[in-house]
Amino acid sequence: MAGCLFSSLLIALCVGLYGTHAEVCRDPVVTPASLLVEYGHPAEVNCSILSKPVTGYMLGWESKSSQPDTDSKKSLTWRVDSLTNWEEADGLKCYLSTATDQCESRVNLTIYKRPDTIMLSSVPDVWIEGDQTELVCEIENVGPGHKLSVHWSRSNAKQNNAFTLFSETSPSDLVNEMKNVSATVKLNITARREDHGVQYKCAAVLNLDTGPVVSESQPITIPVPSGQPPLSSVWGMVSLLAVFTTVL
Ligand SMILES: *[C@@H]1O[C@H](CO)[C@@H](O)[C@H](O)[C@H]1NC(C)=O
Ligand SMILES: *[C@@H]1O[C@H](CO)[C@@H](O)[C@H](O)[C@H]1NC(C)=O
Repeated sequence: MAGCLFSSLLIALCVGLYGTHAEVCRDPVVTPASLLVEYGHPAEVNCSILSKPVTGYMLGWESKSSQPDTDSKKSLTWRVDSLTNWEEADGLKCYLSTATDQCESRVNLTIYKRPDTIMLSSVPDVWIEGDQTELVCEIENVGPGHKLSVHWSRSNAKQNNAFTLFSETSPSDLVNEMKNVSATVKLNITARREDHGVQYKCAAVLNLDTGPVVSESQPITIPVPSGQPPLSSVWGMVSLLAVFTTVL
């Protein structure tokens, strides 16, 4: 009973203060609603309302970099000259507050950064047939980390030496990285004699909703010389044995 009495009083008070028309707001319109921005580049989004609420209002932006607002205009621009705050992607929105209501519209903002450098090397730099070797792709300052995968390709003599994708790595330690990262990604390969002179490349691929952003390394060529039988290698012994067995 006491609660009822109290809320009746509160309603009477509100009606007294703001008139009989408690104003329900409509979500402001953001343009564009979806936005892809390269790190360090400028960005701009407009926010507008169709009509001014009669009881007074505030139209404004919630943002990490810039928070303009207005209580008299019907549109308001959020703008940064150089977008360098990764956290901006999470929570950029325009709000409209009236005396009795609050509405908001989020902007679907994606920030990405191409790597400063991407370099491929091999360990060792000359391969011995049958040995376990490693390709190492070093990617500097790329983001966001959780969208990164590495594509490995090699030239194919049967297709005019065109590069074809032969493996793909998604670094599992980067799944929670919402900003820029540097990564060294490795791929194990067993050297084959027929790979002599083949060129390899790695690519940093940002798998964004709007499509992939790809940055490739320079190609490297790895020799797999022939000559003396690879007695140093256990695999060499195994393949020699296999050859003898076939001959017998
Ligand atoms: C925002 O509005 C202004 C003024 O109407 C216009 O010049 C500008 O192109 C708009 N920007 C975007 C991103 O829509
Ligand atoms: C954000 O934009 C992307 C690309 O336009 C789209 O695929 C995605 O569904 C959008 N997400 C939301 C929450 O609107």
